[in-house]
Amino acid sequence: MCGIVGYTGHKDAGKVIISGLKRLEYRGYDSAGIAVKNEGSIYLQKKKGRIDQLDETEVPKYDAGIGHTRWATHGKPSDENAHPFLDCDENIALVHNGIIDNFNSIKDELLDKGHEFTSETDSEVIVHLIEENYHGDILEAFKKTIEFIEGSYAVALIHKDSNELIVARNESPLVIGVGSGENFVASDVPALLDHTKDVKYLLDGDIARVTRNEIEIWDEKDELVERETKRIDWDVEDAEKSGYEHYMLKEIFEQPKAIHESILGRLTSFDDVDLLKYDIDSVQFIACGTSSHAGYVGRYIFENLAEIPCTVEVSSEYRYTSPSDSTPFTILFSQSGETLDTIAAAREARKRGCNTLAVTNVMDSSITREVDEVVYTQAGPEIGVAATKTFTTQVIILYLLAIELGLKKGVLSRDKAEEYKDELRRLPRKVERILDDMDKIKDITERLSESRDIFFVGRNINYPVALEGALKLKEIAYIHAAGYPAGELKHGPFALLTEDTPVIALAVKDHTFQKMLGNIGEIAARNSPVIVVGDEDREIKKLADDFYFIPETTPIFSPLLVNVVLQLIAYYTAYRLDRDIDKPRNLAKSVTVE
Ligand code: M6R
Repeated sequence: MCGIVGYTGHKDAGKVIISGLKRLEYRGYDSAGIAVKNEGSIYLQKKKGRIDQLDETEVPKYDAGIGHTRWATHGKPSDENAHPFLDCDENIALVHNGIIDNFNSIKDELLDKGHEFTSETDSEVIVHLIEENYHGDILEAFKKTIEFIEGSYAVALIHKDSNELIVARNESPLVIGVGSGENFVASDVPALLDHTKDVKYLLDGDIARVTRNEIEIWDEKDELVERETKRIDWDVEDAEKSGYEHYMLKEIFEQPKAIHESILGRLTSFDDVDLLKYDIDSVQFIACGTSSHAGYVGRYIFENLAEIPCTVEVSSEYRYTSPSDSTPFTILFSQSGETLDTIAAAREARKRGCNTLAVTNVMDSSITREVDEVVYTQAGPEIGVAATKTFTTQVIILYLLAIELGLKKGVLSRDKAEEYKDELRRLPRKVERILDDMDKIKDITERLSESRDIFFVGRNINYPVALEGALKLKEIAYIHAAGYPAGELKHGPFALLTEDTPVIALAVKDHTFQKMLGNIGEIAARNSPVIVVGDEDREIKKLADDFYFIPETTPIFSPLLVNVVLQLIAYYTAYRLDRDIDKPRNLAKSVTVE
């Protein structure tokens, strides 16, 4: 939700900022803007639409500036509502990511004092309030202003008379890139990778002054503090398309590697977290979107391998449920680690007395500070808005955790655990085999791209995969899709089945397979085209209009393989429809608003 970049140093600030913003475009793409310090003034350019709308050639060459890419919350996407914002006297430029809850009352006061506003945004109040508090020292004015602001923010500003950046964070991510004779700020690491791999993560309440040679940070008590410099192990190539037409396709193809890296060193002993410390007799999974589907798959994995009863909650609902006496061990999934609903759910779970574990892909992300334990997925940066490799690696972590718990509880034998671990080792190769078949999968999508509605059905552990397949298709192909337990269609949705409504049925040879065959027969009898993804079977070849058989695996591991097929189905359907696959309309990669 909005990306911020700031630069001060010996390079052309405009170039550094615009290239950094391009790496953050996944955070929002409703408008973009840049402000650089010019000779005694501030040069500003901001436009509705994507970063490419900005004319880089017009930006004067100066050594400090800030930029922004927006996902609209308050005020529609427009030139006026684009960041940065200037104060009335055009001395200060500011960019903001987050939401200012009390902006209305601040704005009223500022209007009474004669300030003129140019936008409908909440963000603009900050720069006018700083102007009001400014008496020659921009840092002091900023510190005073922050005291009045309620809500979430990552903020960066420049003053026309100085080439320092003043930045702050509260519940919205902000990282400082440490260079030599230059320093950077950004909402996320990919914006920095062309210049530095050394970063300092700001904590909530931190305010920093960043000059080309110095970084000073004050904590929430206004004490000068040191924040550790950490080395990022991602490469620039990880954040680039490397010859693929879309990030999403690249990320789908990175899955064998991502699985490998996520199990690496964890099969002999999974010591990221000491589960023995906790008395785990029930588990609740909490997350949003694709990450919540990982939770639903997790429920089946944990109940099977560790015999632990589980529930799954969507983050935005969980915090409004009534607390009960039970305190299940709580596992929260968030690729970004910045999803506000999931962070709020983590706080709520703790408040209710639950021990909490976050599974995230982003080092030091906000959620890591809200939980007792953290496990990282090791998927590498995921830029495409549609989550792919991070779902796969979240599920991998679930297998590892469940095997560990099953062994510790004595409900899983050593031999069985070894069998599962061997299959985990084989999974990257099996995913590669599916990827080698991409042309076959692409052919399946011909009829899908012409459909208005598509159903996905699954049973047991593949029911959540049906949900995920439907979400992916909706998100990037803009085709209405719904996931159902296969047995549920006849309780209502059958009324929608016609010969123009394809059904993608996930049929894996577990204890529900015969029932699934029955369901496929019922769908075919309504003349809906049936596409089966699952285990090879003669009956399916007869019943289905089209099919793709996954490499052989134990049913409990089938969700991973089936899901890779569904990712490719969504991708190629969207491709045929010429959709903006990496940046689907109205969405952003990390959702930092409620
Ligand atoms: O970063 P998170 O895992 O917390 O994000 C949760 C959802 O916003 C995310 O999975 C979303 O549903 C994806 N765009 C789906 O592809």
